Amino acid sequence: MRYIVTSALPYANGKLHLGHVAGAYLPADIFVRYLRLKRKDVIYICGTDEHGTPISISADKEGISPQEVVKRYHDAIKEAFDGVGIEFDNFSGTARAPHHMLSQEFFTQLYEKENIQSKTTLQFYCEHDKRYLPDRYVEGVCPKCGAGGARGDQCDKCGQIYDTTTLKEPACKICGNTPEIRETKHWFIHLDSFRDRLKNWLSTKDYWKENVLNFMMGLLDQGLIERSITRDLSWGVPVPLPGAEGKVLYVWFDAPIGYISSTMEWAIKQGKPELWKDYWLDPDTQLIHFIGKDNIIFHALIWPAMLMGQDAGYCLPHDIPANEFMNLEGEKISTSKNWAIWVDEFVKEFDGEYLRYYLAVNAPEKQDSDFSFKDFQLRVNSDLNNTLGNLANRVFAFTHKNFDGLIQECKLDAECSAVLSDADALINEIDSGYQGYQVKKNTKLIMDIARLGNKFFDERKPWSVIKEDRAAVNETLYVCANLLAKLSIAMLPILPKHMKQLRQMMNLPLEPVFADAYALLDKEIQLGETKPLFRKLEDEEIDKQLAALHAMAKQDAAVEYAPIKDSITYEHFAKLDIRLAKVLAAEIVPKTEKLLKLKVDIGTETRELIAGIAQSYKPEDLVGKVITMLVNLEPRKIRGVSSQGMILAAHTNGAIKVMLPDGEGSPGSIVQ
Ligand code: 2FM
Ligand code: ZN
Repeated sequence: MRYIVTSALPYANGKLHLGHVAGAYLPADIFVRYLRLKRKDVIYICGTDEHGTPISISADKEGISPQEVVKRYHDAIKEAFDGVGIEFDNFSGTARAPHHMLSQEFFTQLYEKENIQSKTTLQFYCEHDKRYLPDRYVEGVCPKCGAGGARGDQCDKCGQIYDTTTLKEPACKICGNTPEIRETKHWFIHLDSFRDRLKNWLSTKDYWKENVLNFMMGLLDQGLIERSITRDLSWGVPVPLPGAEGKVLYVWFDAPIGYISSTMEWAIKQGKPELWKDYWLDPDTQLIHFIGKDNIIFHALIWPAMLMGQDAGYCLPHDIPANEFMNLEGEKISTSKNWAIWVDEFVKEFDGEYLRYYLAVNAPEKQDSDFSFKDFQLRVNSDLNNTLGNLANRVFAFTHKNFDGLIQECKLDAECSAVLSDADALINEIDSGYQGYQVKKNTKLIMDIARLGNKFFDERKPWSVIKEDRAAVNETLYVCANLLAKLSIAMLPILPKHMKQLRQMMNLPLEPVFADAYALLDKEIQLGETKPLFRKLEDEEIDKQLAALHAMAKQDAAVEYAPIKDSITYEHFAKLDIRLAKVLAAEIVPKTEKLLKLKVDIGTETRELIAGIAQSYKPEDLVGKVITMLVNLEPRKIRGVSSQGMILAAHTNGAIKVMLPDGEGSPGSIVQ
């Protein structure tokens, strides 16, 4: 039986952050490495998703071609994957000609069988730019939840889909003008005609997560709506029909086809152009798509329907492992707010496998998880260094010192046999853990093997036994060497580079099979050159990373400008009476965190006011300072105090900065 393992094609419109890696890539890479240990016939396929409006918008903004944007990010993403040891058999891209051809073929097949039909619909059109505004080319206020920045037909905030014409306050993303609504022709896939086939197929998926299965069955029962699969754009796969000039396939229609076109590319590189068929056209192939949870509908309903509609004998997805999300220091990762850790930068500071380990320990399998630098440091230091690394170091050091690096194979007493059979029980659990994509649980079980070894070493006290019984010490070392050998196989999918190093130091074969983890080492073990496997992470380097993360986010927050308000006349402005005021006293308003009560001198009189600046200023920071204040604002009661005016301040770099005059200033002076 063959396996095709895929990871969601990342958009070639940005760099890779560690949330991506944790979700759809590392779990797949680990699974593939595990299958290889089992000597399964598996190919791991991916590539970049190179169409869609964000890419052409980026290109427009930078004044370059979409191809240039795609090339830049394709290369950057590939390099980041290399940095964390994610090894695809092929990494293609959907802008390549063979992919375009295959996508057109998919469309044509569905069209000829009348699973795709055209319809006239309404679409935003910008008179200024003389073009339709699909997807992200128009932004407005969501008609469902009222959030700003909503797209033409879907809101990122509430996730709801709506009719384009209902979007409020639409604006063209290119010129900012209000677009008009025009008729345009589009093609729709009729998912309803696949309903029975999809239901039958889904009913064989009793091993899927229950919530995913119920969600999909629910959608099928509701009756599937037809989905538009074309757009008025120039960047994409052209719709292969006469009279469809200026129309391309919707990015989500062509993207999954990339799994096949990338496999075809791989087959050509192997010198066997037909080889892809052995995988894709065999109904027994296990096709496994690793994705993020936001991609479930596409992979569990639409893509299978597209494959069914080809009537070409394509295998259907066997499983769709979808992970939850990973947060960063307790907050949602947000690329627009620069709240993210970029993989390429991270691997310049730390070994990529430290990241693999941490993302594995902390995998967002059943619920969202959190990346925290302090926890990262703790895991690397306590697990990799003090547990696994420690077992290897102490066994190697002791063997070098007392036995010239040579451990003899020997008979085992009951205590030793018990330790090794405990380890085998763990190996068994780890084996089934990998089959069920339970990487997080497996990291713990593997560390349990190392803990078992450390405990055994301590209990056997080789440092004192060595004086009277060298054979017993050899036995201790032999048991520990076996534990290390088992562990090196069990951990190989997660830390391939380090486990290879470990096996090299022990002169063990570098291409083991998983079953070797149950066997006893049957020869003497002559250690090679040994050195510590891992390095400790120091507080300073972790603190530096944390500070850099916060600084980047702040810098970025500062450049999120609000739109300029409508013009006003000078008369409007002149109505504002702004004066310098000297702070005479300041105190925190009881039971609040943000409010300061100020007593100020405005030249003609003293006033009291409440200002929401306590998170940026302590009372003593302000007393004696001259500030600027709007003095003719209607008094307002805040927390029982009549606030007689408002001090002027700016929100900047995540803090509040009170406006001070340049140099000396006397209270009462007019500001204009
Ligand atoms: O969500 C995403 O990042 C998409 N580019 C995933 C596409 S998966 C597949 F269909 F190619
Ligand atoms: Zn416009």
